[in-house]
Amino acid sequence: MRLAQLLFSQGLGMRRECAALVAAGEVRVGGRVVDDPDAEVEPVGLEFSVRGERWTYRERAVVVLHKPAGFECSLQPRHHPSVMSLLPPALRRRGVQPVGHLDVDTTGLLLLTDDGALIHRLTSPKRHVAKVYEVTTKHAATPALPQRLVDGVQLVDEPRPVRAATCEATGPHTLRLVLTEGKYHQVKRMVAAAGNRVEALHRSAFAGVALGDLAPGQWRWIGPEESVAPSTSR
Ligand code: URA
Repeated sequence: MRLAQLLFSQGLGMRRECAALVAAGEVRVGGRVVDDPDAEVEPVGLEFSVRGERWTYRERAVVVLHKPAGFECSLQPRHHPSVMSLLPPALRRRGVQPVGHLDVDTTGLLLLTDDGALIHRLTSPKRHVAKVYEVTTKHAATPALPQRLVDGVQLVDEPRPVRAATCEATGPHTLRLVLTEGKYHQVKRMVAAAGNRVEALHRSAFAGVALGDLAPGQWRWIGPEESVAPSTSR
């Protein structure tokens, strides 16, 4: 691949801007300045820098964002800033978009990617991809509540009861709930249908990827050792 084309593919500017960056000597490959925009490079695993900022070539971008409260997952937000504003321009230019949706007041793990096939795999209802939610309830969780959510609750407009894959109490007012489907406001509606109320909601894992100690508002690449597995749990 030509170097300027590679920069363009990584969202580092418009085609002409990428060629100009290379010609201006702003791009290093393997620590060495390459100033020919048409220089051929092998993209796989290529490490390069642009104005001192280091990049690794990635055919597809897959990142994890720790979504803070007060951000919308929509690309055209209405009342709050979009989660896209938390990402660098290169990722936005590549066309990454959120995999699924978290409510504006929900915090935690949001995957974003420019891989349309991956978005489809992770959001397809047939795949039952596991999502782990940490729920804070308004009223103390009764001993019966976790089992009730696993047995299933009837939601308005749903033909059948909706179930959690697993649910455990993690404190007097906290639950860890695993869902393998993604209906609108599902956790809040399920907890309400079981007679309690969600005060705070946080997603700690999705598709086998954990948030870990990523700080709110921060993002990271999914490493090659982490597989974003549409893990089927039933
Ligand atoms: N369920 C909800 O109710 N809200 C979310 O943001 C995610 C799951």
